[in-house]
Amino acid sequence: MARLRPVIAGNWKMNLTREESLALAGQCMKLAEEIRSVSVRVFPGYLVAAEAASLASGSSLEVGAQNCHNESSGAYTGEVSPAQLIDAGVRHILIGHSERRQHFGEGDTLIAAKVKAALKHGLNVTLCVGETIGERDAGKAGAVVATQLKALDGIEQDARLGVDIAYEPVWAIGTGRTATPEQAAEIHSLIRAELDAKRGFAVSRILYGGSVKSDNCEALASKKHVDGFLIGGASLKGEEFAKIVRTSAVVFAAKQ
Ligand code: PGA
Repeated sequence: MARLRPVIAGNWKMNLTREESLALAGQCMKLAEEIRSVSVRVFPGYLVAAEAASLASGSSLEVGAQNCHNESSGAYTGEVSPAQLIDAGVRHILIGHSERRQHFGEGDTLIAAKVKAALKHGLNVTLCVGETIGERDAGKAGAVVATQLKALDGIEQDARLGVDIAYEPVWAIGTGRTATPEQAAEIHSLIRAELDAKRGFAVSRILYGGSVKSDNCEALASKKHVDGFLIGGASLKGEEFAKIVRTSAVVFAAKQ
């Protein structure tokens, strides 16, 4: 089955005011209309996600949230459910980002439950995986990522179409230290093999994340099985993000 368009996504994390977020969403909408060969996706903070989704409705820009609970509703003070996100017009979700794993104690079991809940409610999931520097140095990067991908076990056949993977080595996130294109390619191949073995994830795209910028995106995008990017810091600047999208789109198109 042919894979969908590459995805270039911006993870805005806990940044930007409402005004700044909506202005950036507007810029990204124009960008998504201009560059049709890739899917442009943004993950603003919760408070503006619904408004950004409504602004982008009818356009090619995809809007998501950065986290959700694994229950549909209930006594979970401070949490947001997948059902509430869908109700608010949000259609995409990031699950298992390493900052959630590191700072909020999210483990593989909880992440697997969130993936299933999000898919059940019709959200498209970008599942983040990636090893720490200690795990890489111990030669365990591949094994760690394979274990994290178990969050996909037991997902119904139809729901598998709504899953993308983001490989983000923890040591490359926000550090300015990017994985080399070869390091990224090695783990992306392994992820593709795992997805193939699990079957039904043929259209899932594998995004690379971790200090992606306009000056390193070309080399990364040219690698086999790199089907897009998940970008933090550089996605907060409209011009820089646009440069990454334009540059990468050319490389992705040449690769097909
Ligand atoms: P970064 O973040 O691009 O700032 O390294 C990536 C991410 O956390 O998704």
